Amino acid sequence: MKRILSLALAIFLVFAFADSCSKKQGEEKSKEKVQKEAGHKYIFGFSQCTFEDPWRVNMNREMEESAKKHPEIKLIIANGENRNAKQIADVENFIVMGVDLLIISPREAAPLTPVVEKAYDAGIPVIVLDRRVLTDKYTIFIGASNLEIGREAGKYVAERLGRKGNIVEIEGILGATPTQERSQGFHEIIDQYPELKVIYKQPGDYKRSPARQVMENALQAFEKIDAVYAHNDEMMIGAYLAAKAVGREKEMLFVGIDGQYEAVKMIRQGLLDATFVYPNGSKEAIEYGLKILKGEKVPKELILSTLRVTKDEALDYEGFKSF
Ligand code: FRU
Repeated sequence: MKRILSLALAIFLVFAFADSCSKKQGEEKSKEKVQKEAGHKYIFGFSQCTFEDPWRVNMNREMEESAKKHPEIKLIIANGENRNAKQIADVENFIVMGVDLLIISPREAAPLTPVVEKAYDAGIPVIVLDRRVLTDKYTIFIGASNLEIGREAGKYVAERLGRKGNIVEIEGILGATPTQERSQGFHEIIDQYPELKVIYKQPGDYKRSPARQVMENALQAFEKIDAVYAHNDEMMIGAYLAAKAVGREKEMLFVGIDGQYEAVKMIRQGLLDATFVYPNGSKEAIEYGLKILKGEKVPKELILSTLRVTKDEALDYEGFKSF
């Protein structure tokens, strides 16, 4: 019995060793291969939380275009598939591959924080884009101020409604920092007016059809809704479609965020009311990535500007075509 056991152990060890050797070789090869094939000086690994929506598709496209202008950069984009576990694995892969720079737009802050710290501790410079992590172990954060956008949305709704009315708030993914900041900024303003109330608040995960469902529930529960504040344009459009399906779309204002072209066109037609351009920071990520690798000093935060788009601006923007 003992013999059999030690034989089994020996066989196991041989296989385990062989396996670890082949893995190591595989990893080294893949790094070399990437560098060689690319013939570039720097590898930028971009961990994107999802490829599912127009804003992210456009962000990837713009980042690729910016990277192409610099022949020394090889950009690799990993699709987190809107799952924290997948995105963590993507970053782990970039660390093993030995990328020169990590760019990450994290799905949710808390679950992605440890792996960002791991990359940073491994000596990889890290650019955090649009959604934040819960650590200061990163090189630079690039994004717009979601608190400010929330406040501007609050001011717009308060003014349009004469500081009185019932609001439905459709939130994004709860663990993502823009969701929290868009809500906080909005409430800082509207909570100052006792007759202006959020009567229904539910997450729509930044997606059109869950938001439509949230709005269907709100429409059933409340006879009078004066405004919908959706944390992005996809959800604003979902809410509009739900209201339109029951003939109530003219009863209320629709306010969203992103400046998505489909929403801008609907604002132009007077179907929706306002959106806020939310820049994705992809061009800046490439530019600042190069600065970092060339040893230049960069600030800890780069805050990008936003722009409110109501009917006036939407009409002005004859050529306004975003994404
Ligand atoms: C896209 C998106 C945008 C939103 C941003 C917030 O995935 O949901 O619509 O503005 O992420 O991080």
